[in-house]
Amino acid sequence: MTGPLLDAKTAVVTGGAQGIGFAIAQRFVGEGARVVLGDIDPDPVARAADQLGGPHVAMGVPVDVTSAADVDTLLRTAIDSFGSLDVMVNNAGITRDATMRKMTEEQFDEVLDVHLKGTWLGTRAAATIMRENGGGTIVNMSSISGKVGFVGQTNYSAAKAGIVGLSKAAAKEVAHAGVRINCIQPGLIRTAMTEAMPERIWDQKMSEIPMGRAGEPGEIASVALFLASELSSYMTGTVMEVTGGRLM
Ligand SMILES: NC(=O)c1ccc[n+]([C@@H]2O[C@H](COP(=O)([O-])OP(=O)(O)OC[C@H]3O[C@@H](n4cnc5c(N)ncnc54)[C@H](O)[C@@H]3O)[C@@H](O)[C@H]2O)c1
Repeated sequence: MTGPLLDAKTAVVTGGAQGIGFAIAQRFVGEGARVVLGDIDPDPVARAADQLGGPHVAMGVPVDVTSAADVDTLLRTAIDSFGSLDVMVNNAGITRDATMRKMTEEQFDEVLDVHLKGTWLGTRAAATIMRENGGGTIVNMSSISGKVGFVGQTNYSAAKAGIVGLSKAAAKEVAHAGVRINCIQPGLIRTAMTEAMPERIWDQKMSEIPMGRAGEPGEIASVALFLASELSSYMTGTVMEVTGGRLM
């Protein structure tokens, strides 16, 4: 394989204004892709697209991934602006941590909606377009929290485990049409989401990591690139742990 890995491909990345999503978009652009970022607030997503090189390589679209209409608009922007949809990364996420005793139903529903319903909507809409166009790749962002379950994250662990189940089921439905769907389970990655954690929790998580350090967003982006590209051409329905060896 020679040349850029995503040459002339179009990728959509949800939650792309910052953190892991932005790092993925940056990596994809570096490999020849045009990207459309979807994120909840208009200004940050527009700034992120500018930072990636502006309208000939990157567009920013304000979307709420829990809305089917917004997700359709996002994918339509990719096709209208760049002519195709080749890669979809369902990455948008939130946390509303609390033990079960204190967690409200609203906090449970909010997290399930953004992660699980958002990923389902993105997977369904992208797969529909890709199967008509002869193929594509979908990367869904789970978490190691969905593998082992974390105290204070009954909502998030359920959603992230659900993403694995939905991805495997969907992968079976669309494999024959050339659409591959895989998941990433990051461990502790340094972003706004984890920097909001109390120091005590951060230190406790660090103590579980054999490699002795947190991961950087770029280290998730390189795995997303692998799953999005032909490098992983015989993989679908898989889950890749990117955790520095934590909770293996
Ligand atoms: N940082 C970690 O350690 C870690 C570990 C495992 C999994 N993850 C997952 O990786 C993904 C990215 O996380 P991050 O650490 O970069 O977090 P982040 O908070 O930096 O970024 C998440 C992005 O999603 C956007 N978003 C939230 N709700 C949205 C909605 N309804 N519609 C559209 N966009 C929305 C936010 O605005 C934000 O830009 C998430 O799915 C997260 O659960 C992160």
